[in-house]
Amino acid sequence: MRKGIIAAVMIFRMLLVSAIISGKVESASPDSGYAGSQECKRCHEEKYAGWKTTMHSKMEQEPVWEGSDKNVLGDFNSKDPALTFKPEDVDMLIGSRFKQRYAKKIGDDYYMLPAEWVVSKKKWQSYVPKKDWWVSQYPADWDKKPASRLCEGCHQTGYDLETKKSSEKNIACEACHGPGKEHIEAMNKMEGDKKSGMMPKPSEYVKDTKIINPANLERERANDICFQCHLSGKSLDNKTAWPVGYKPGDVLSKYWIDDPYENGKETYTFWHNGTAHKNRVQGNTYKFSKMNKQGVKCFACHNPHGAAYKSILYKSPNNLCLTCHGSGSVFGEKYSFDKIEEHTHHKPASSGSDCIECHMVKTGKHAVDRESRDHTFKFVSPTETKKYGVPNACNNCHTDKSVEWAVEHVTGWQYFNK
Ligand code: HEC
Ligand code: HEC
Ligand code: HEC
Ligand code: HEC
Ligand code: HEC
Ligand code: HEC
Ligand code: HEC
Ligand code: HEC
Repeated sequence: MRKGIIAAVMIFRMLLVSAIISGKVESASPDSGYAGSQECKRCHEEKYAGWKTTMHSKMEQEPVWEGSDKNVLGDFNSKDPALTFKPEDVDMLIGSRFKQRYAKKIGDDYYMLPAEWVVSKKKWQSYVPKKDWWVSQYPADWDKKPASRLCEGCHQTGYDLETKKSSEKNIACEACHGPGKEHIEAMNKMEGDKKSGMMPKPSEYVKDTKIINPANLERERANDICFQCHLSGKSLDNKTAWPVGYKPGDVLSKYWIDDPYENGKETYTFWHNGTAHKNRVQGNTYKFSKMNKQGVKCFACHNPHGAAYKSILYKSPNNLCLTCHGSGSVFGEKYSFDKIEEHTHHKPASSGSDCIECHMVKTGKHAVDRESRDHTFKFVSPTETKKYGVPNACNNCHTDKSVEWAVEHVTGWQYFNK
């Protein structure tokens, strides 16, 4: 009986989804300056195709319950008591990598249903925000916490808090390049001029538009583009969980205060030593790295227009690190990475020789476990586990060994200084 109803609902939804795909695509109000990634695609096809493979392009989706485009990961036939809602409640879903959450549309806003699917464990768990700073401002009920104020600005592009409409329900071109209508008009004019026999220089036309190329910005302004979403904090007026009004090129701190690091104290955001305590704090933790201070931008490692490697890296992790840290570079000489085992004390082909396993330790809680990689790039020593309980590099792999075992081994290492 229940199955029959679900099947009927699914068919209805599939029809609904195809109606949306075929025709009615939500678009921004005409004066907002946003054009949409479809428009950019016309002239930047390669960038578009690459971006489509990244998770930025798949953040918020209409649920598809069956077929090759199925995007609902949660098992809605489960008897798990945490699952308290039905497929017909789900109007939108968020995420696909660590966890998936589900939202119901009520009036003109969305509300997060009270259970989430843990991707790695294939199980449900209840979703009740408890530690976010805004929790005290809202009643406990799930249907009293509007996504417009608490989520949308970081999961959509060009979201308008007044109209509750956006240009796109994903992190698209204009989230990082700024509104692009003016740029398109200028480039259309250039194409026109070309047709009428002129030999236009693209740079002359680009110059007068506000399109932002992050590569041309200084380090802080460039990283602010990523930080608008990847830096845990709160708005200046204490009312929204995302930086309303910020656009690429702006100074983010005019809209946003990042969570403070209280030296030596464990908080929701940080471990005592400044490493990631939760997910989505890449900006907060990267600020401590020497790489940040030396001008290495987030997109020195991450490629916004391609997912050839995990987490949209430009290269596989060790190759990436060794581009700058390999022999010949300052660190290369100091640590002789051409004989990698002298630095790592593991065989070269061992997972124990992967830079990120010791320098980007999984210390941050995401769905259930500590799955989120720290971006302070600090080696997290087992001595710190003894003192503060922070997960260390060694025991994350050597789970059958004690912390004392790890301390004993690492203490004798040539470069270890803690
Ligand atoms: C009508 C064609 C056309 C469309 C549509 C278009 N662009 Fe461009 N864009 C260009 C050309 C041509 C250049 C200059 C390339 C060069 O310098 O060689 C350019 C340059 C750029 C640059 C680099 C700017 C700089 O200062 O270095 C960015 C970023 C960019 N476009 C983003 C976008 C985005 C985002 C969209 C969609 C909102 C878009 N473009 C739509 C043609 C277009
Ligand atoms: C998550 C942020 C982000 C998103 C989303 C994004 N870009 Fe970019 N884009 C960047 C950054 C950072 C650079 C500078 C570094 C580089 O060249 O990769 C850049 C550079 C560019 C350039 C100029 C560089 C060149 O090679 O000419 C163009 C054009 C461009 N992007 C177009 C697009 C288009 C079109 C889309 C959407 C389909 C898009 N970008 C989506 C961050 C982003
Ligand atoms: C300040 C920006 C911001 C706000 C506000 C925000 N998010 Fe996110 N969210 C992100 C970023 C950035 C990530 C990816 C970061 C990571 O993996 O560490 C993310 C990841 C997620 C994921 C996991 C996606 C996956 O594939 O595993 C879910 C689910 C999610 N957010 C739901 C929500 C909900 C629900 C809200 C509102 C209650 C919300 N977020 C508010 C920026 C934000
Ligand atoms: C408008 C908000 C927003 C902006 C701007 C943004 N991100 Fe993200 N980013 C997210 C969210 C949300 C996710 C989670 C997507 C998911 O899991 O479905 C994410 C995921 C990622 C991931 C994992 C993606 C994957 O495909 O594996 C990386 C890496 C990342 N972001 C880096 C960056 C960098 C670097 C920049 C700046 C150039 C940036 N982001 C700008 C919101 C944003
Ligand atoms: C684009 C070049 C570049 C890449 C790629 C790069 N690094 Fe770095 N790294 C630097 C620079 C520059 C410094 C700072 C040197 C200094 O000031 O002494 C640095 C410093 C460091 C440090 C010192 C601690 C600190 O505070 O940051 C560690 C550890 C480190 N890098 C690890 C890595 C790992 C792991 C990777 C690969 C995931 C990597 N690096 C990739 C350029 C790079
Ligand atoms: C098995 C663990 C392990 C692996 C794998 C590892 N390192 Fe290290 N690394 C260390 C330890 C321990 C130190 C000493 C730092 C300390 O005690 O805080 C160190 C120090 C460094 C430093 C200097 C940090 C500073 O603050 O001056 C850099 C740079 C570095 N490693 C880069 C790399 C790169 C690049 C790789 C991959 C080729 C790598 N490491 C792989 C354990 C490791
Ligand atoms: C020196 C290189 C480097 C820099 C700089 C860097 N990252 Fe990463 N990042 C990585 C690596 C390596 C991974 C893990 C790749 C994997 O999944 O195996 C990663 C993973 C991520 C993820 C996926 C979530 C997770 O916990 O694994 C996000 C999101 C992300 N980075 C965002 C950022 C942002 C935002 C910045 C700038 C504040 C940044 N990164 C700076 C190398 C870097
Ligand atoms: C990413 C996983 C990983 C990490 C992180 C790691 N190891 Fe290992 N370790 C291994 C593997 C796999 C072996 C098996 C032999 C090999 O491949 O070198 C090993 C072997 C060893 C051995 C020799 C064999 C034994 O069991 O007695 C010691 C000692 C050791 N590791 C200590 C450490 C210490 C100390 C750290 C932290 C600084 C560490 N490892 C971090 C994966 C890891």
